[in-house]
Amino acid sequence: MTIARRRFDAVIVGAGGAGMRCALQLAQAGLNVAVLSKVFPTRSHTVAAQGGIGASLGNMTEDDWLWHMFDTVKGSDYLGDQDAIEFMCREAPKVVYELEHFGMPFDRNPDGTIYQRPFGGHSANFGEKPVPRACAAADRTGHALLHTLYQQNVKARTQFFVEWMALDLIMDADGDCVGVIALEMETGEPMILEGKVTVLATGGAGRIWAASTNAFINTGDGLGMVARAGLPLQDLEFWQFHPTGVAGAGVLITEGVRGEGGFLLNCNGERFMERYAPTLKDLAPRDFVSRSMDQEIKEGRGCGEHKDHVLLKLDHLGADMITKRLPSIREIAIKFANVDPIKEPIPVVPTIHYQMGGIPANYHGQVVVPRGGNPAAVVGGLYAIGECSCVSVHGANRLGTNSLLDLIVFGRSAGNHIAETLKKEPRENKPLPKGAGDATLARLAALDARASGERVQDVANGIRKSMQAHCGVFRTGKLLDEGVAQIMKLGERAKNVVISDKSKVFNTARIEALELHNLVETAKATIVSAAARTESRGAHARDDYPERDDANWIKHTLWYSEGNRLAYKPVNMKPLTVETFVPKKRTF
Ligand code: FUM
Repeated sequence: MTIARRRFDAVIVGAGGAGMRCALQLAQAGLNVAVLSKVFPTRSHTVAAQGGIGASLGNMTEDDWLWHMFDTVKGSDYLGDQDAIEFMCREAPKVVYELEHFGMPFDRNPDGTIYQRPFGGHSANFGEKPVPRACAAADRTGHALLHTLYQQNVKARTQFFVEWMALDLIMDADGDCVGVIALEMETGEPMILEGKVTVLATGGAGRIWAASTNAFINTGDGLGMVARAGLPLQDLEFWQFHPTGVAGAGVLITEGVRGEGGFLLNCNGERFMERYAPTLKDLAPRDFVSRSMDQEIKEGRGCGEHKDHVLLKLDHLGADMITKRLPSIREIAIKFANVDPIKEPIPVVPTIHYQMGGIPANYHGQVVVPRGGNPAAVVGGLYAIGECSCVSVHGANRLGTNSLLDLIVFGRSAGNHIAETLKKEPRENKPLPKGAGDATLARLAALDARASGERVQDVANGIRKSMQAHCGVFRTGKLLDEGVAQIMKLGERAKNVVISDKSKVFNTARIEALELHNLVETAKATIVSAAARTESRGAHARDDYPERDDANWIKHTLWYSEGNRLAYKPVNMKPLTVETFVPKKRTF
């Protein structure tokens, strides 16, 4: 089969905050940029981000980028790479002011400066007290950010391929990436998009779980592509449970609620976070708060008929404040929890929200893998940015607001790195290897040809159920080992899924089957890496290994799909210009 081809300087997969920030930098540098997205760009999952983007502007009270760095390193439970964390926290004020100048409609203080609210784990003076660091556009910060970036990209003439799904990387004999093979979702037609560089910005993979704040599109497509290309995935055992998902619905209730003064209650009406984190209380980092909530529920202090959730109280903030600063939260609570938070508390439970791990990358966005004795050798032509990447600035636990920041800082820095490199060393696109895309076409053909087999949704739901039951807030070796066995079996079943003739008409079933291949890779990487890490660190909490083990486990996990194999590489404990923050016991 001859397959259509188009050639670009850069091909970006994903039109969320990271993809669009990178695209903008490249288009403004005069490069020919294609951005592929499964959905219309402004429907990418960044749009769902609520509470704010972190930057030490100091608009409300004194702040400092070094305090931000300290909080991020401590928040990461000392697994974050300190060079990248320094880079991100230093860049933060600059990138936020840039967004402001692009026209992003931040909330304002009376003096015209950007409004900032406190968020979990962000502190003044190295942990002394909470600091307002989250730059907010009400509780719709992601929405404001994504629309601003889309408008800027339209102005800069970025080319968007809307409702296109990237299927696989095209790697040449040197191990360099020369583009992707993708599918136009409406027609089912494949095409090769050649790029001097390919940038993966495919977001998180939260849909491997049953209860998730993530959009249905978050199926780990970039992770699947990388795993199938023989490259590793890093630190996938670390997944963040956001403390406040609406109980039973999974919809996010921003930490900004607690930043504005809301707090959690158990069935006795007790503000229990005062016991677990006496200084930061409800604004302790998310791993801490989620574990505390789980503990309350386990010990019988949950609320409701089944004692299976806790309550988030905010009525004391007053109707004016809630409608001004938290309008979407009120709407979500009314629609999904059937309570008006102006009068009643919202029932909440810890809910999967964010993957700290992903495609190993450095702070220029280049994908790095251990090769020839170098733990971080660059893969030519391949970048990864945003939630699909692992730079690693979040280590074992991300602080709220550092996600939007990560998208913008590293989207921009990858854009700069690509533009500068192509300017310094101008080059043509590398030739496609012989048989480029053939393996993917064979994968598609096999899917279409199969006359009977498993239903895609049965296998996908099996993965979600198993991950939820075996890889939750608290884990044990027994649970994890059982989970590994179940996920491996489900992976085998995924090879035998069938698409019915009827659903082929709209291609949706074909897309879901292709997404399933990516869910399988992500779920395997997660549960296998988690079963192997015999310690508790950040969001990876094991009942059978309750302590952090710095002697053996300050290292990043690398999972390879081929052979279902693990390797490890060192954490970069050396910041760029300041002293190392040495590991200490985390108390808040
Ligand atoms: O709680 C929130 O608004 C989520 C923010 C984040 O994940 O950074």
